Amino acid sequence: MAERTEAPAGDGLPKGFRSAELGWPELHRIPHPPHRLPLLGDVLGVSRRTPMQDSLRYARQLGPIFRRRVFGKEFVFVWGAGLAADLADESRFAKHVGVGVANLRPVAGDGLFTAYNHEPNWQLAHDVLAPGFSREAMAGYHPMMLDVADRLTAHWDRAVAAGRPVDVPGDMTKLTLETIARTGFGHDFGSFERSRPHPFVTAMVGTLTYAQRLNTVPAPLTPWLLRGASRRNKADIAHLNRTVDDVVRARRGARGKGDLLDRMLETAHPATGERLSAENVRRQVITFLVAGHETTSGALSFALHYLSRHPGIAARARAEVDRVWGDAAVPAYEQVAKLRYVRRVLDESLRLWPTAPAFAREARADTVLADTHPMRRGAWALVLTPMLHRDPAVWGPDAERFDPDRFDAKAVRTRAPHAFKPFGTGARACIGRQFALHEATLVLGLLLRRYELRPDPGYRLRVTERLTLMPEGLRLRLERRAPGDAAPAPVAEEAVPSDPRCPVHGTGD
Ligand code: HEM
Repeated sequence: MAERTEAPAGDGLPKGFRSAELGWPELHRIPHPPHRLPLLGDVLGVSRRTPMQDSLRYARQLGPIFRRRVFGKEFVFVWGAGLAADLADESRFAKHVGVGVANLRPVAGDGLFTAYNHEPNWQLAHDVLAPGFSREAMAGYHPMMLDVADRLTAHWDRAVAAGRPVDVPGDMTKLTLETIARTGFGHDFGSFERSRPHPFVTAMVGTLTYAQRLNTVPAPLTPWLLRGASRRNKADIAHLNRTVDDVVRARRGARGKGDLLDRMLETAHPATGERLSAENVRRQVITFLVAGHETTSGALSFALHYLSRHPGIAARARAEVDRVWGDAAVPAYEQVAKLRYVRRVLDESLRLWPTAPAFAREARADTVLADTHPMRRGAWALVLTPMLHRDPAVWGPDAERFDPDRFDAKAVRTRAPHAFKPFGTGARACIGRQFALHEATLVLGLLLRRYELRPDPGYRLRVTERLTLMPEGLRLRLERRAPGDAAPAPVAEEAVPSDPRCPVHGTGD
């Protein structure tokens, strides 16, 4: 069960769900949807399958800060760029583990993503694992990423030969799961050899969907309304635990590979000499297997959708791949970050559909948000990233338009800070950011080089939600490009400066 009651945490802040009336003394000044129903709250016209997209609709009606009440729980949502920038101030705000994230505690416990800020295992695991995302570590993962990408292209070549369209989200999920499993844990799920998703993926989707449903059912009624779902969820969690225990057991006593699992099992904290406990290793492995593939898979799928719909942009990206990679059989590690335009395509896809679509921030002490909204210590708000990324004050009146040039160097330099946050913010921002960007840029480059992407003219983008976002039912037809289509000689690109900063925080924004 999710933690739903308020209990004081180690730092004195309440944990679990905290309704907004408790923390926002002037809550009445924050607008809410009209037609609020007694007991039920703001539920008219909303669906339990699309809570995020419903919030986006309300955001458009109600403005840069608004609230929603669902079954007695009041939430504050923020998306205006000025307000979100204030929430990014780490001296006054921190990550809030609430709603969707807290619902994952039964499966991920004090793993990195779900740990409360005060839990000692967060700092320990962060310090032990951050070097696993350094440039040097990433260069070591590159050949494994290429191996997995080969399996994807072999699978897609067979679809081309058979005249079949490809299932983009399904295949991107296979690709990203295999990539994190191989690079992180030396494990092979054999996803491309299966006709149905791997049972680990089925169990993972089950727990994510269940965690989302917990938000849409009144807490006292969950034992009745979600009895069957809760039983299935327990079975899913047991399956995830068993799978992970098998992977860890196989590694203990075996020769290390220098991957994330080795770090978890072997590395002591550089200052304290402490190590992760066996239970915490289990939590971290599940965390990385889930966080390390679901969001990247969505990002690749949205990018492929937009590339297929914008042949001019696809041609420009492909020309860059041909120019930068030339006739190299496989790209070297350094050649990936040189795909500047492909990376812009990815950023622009993450702007419109940040696949982890919200993150929560809480006040470290009594404060006033943007000099306007008083907040008590522990009060929190959800930053709605898809709307932040569409704020016309920052992105202009055509914010809905797909345009990768919004991310050219000059545009980025002149934009207000904290307006683009697909990887969250501050100390708890995504540890896997560089990993995801390298993997996704590499794969987009390989796919653009090999195929022309043909959309189904009847397809209209629909977005499924299970805490993360994914284009639903996206199929593409592919054509193999002739080898001679590629430009032969690579040209020198401007050097990409090496980044000596912390792989997580130095580049988090
Ligand atoms: C496009 C891909 C990705 C997106 C959009 C994404 C997004 C995010 C966001 C928004 C957060 C912060 C959540 C919060 O504040 O509550 C986060 C945290 C995290 N992500 Fe990612 N992520 C991606 C890929 C990855 C990958 C590839 C890995 C691992 C290899 C990963 C591992 C994590 C972990 C462990 C955290 C928790 C960090 C902490 O609290 O210390 N993510 N991610």
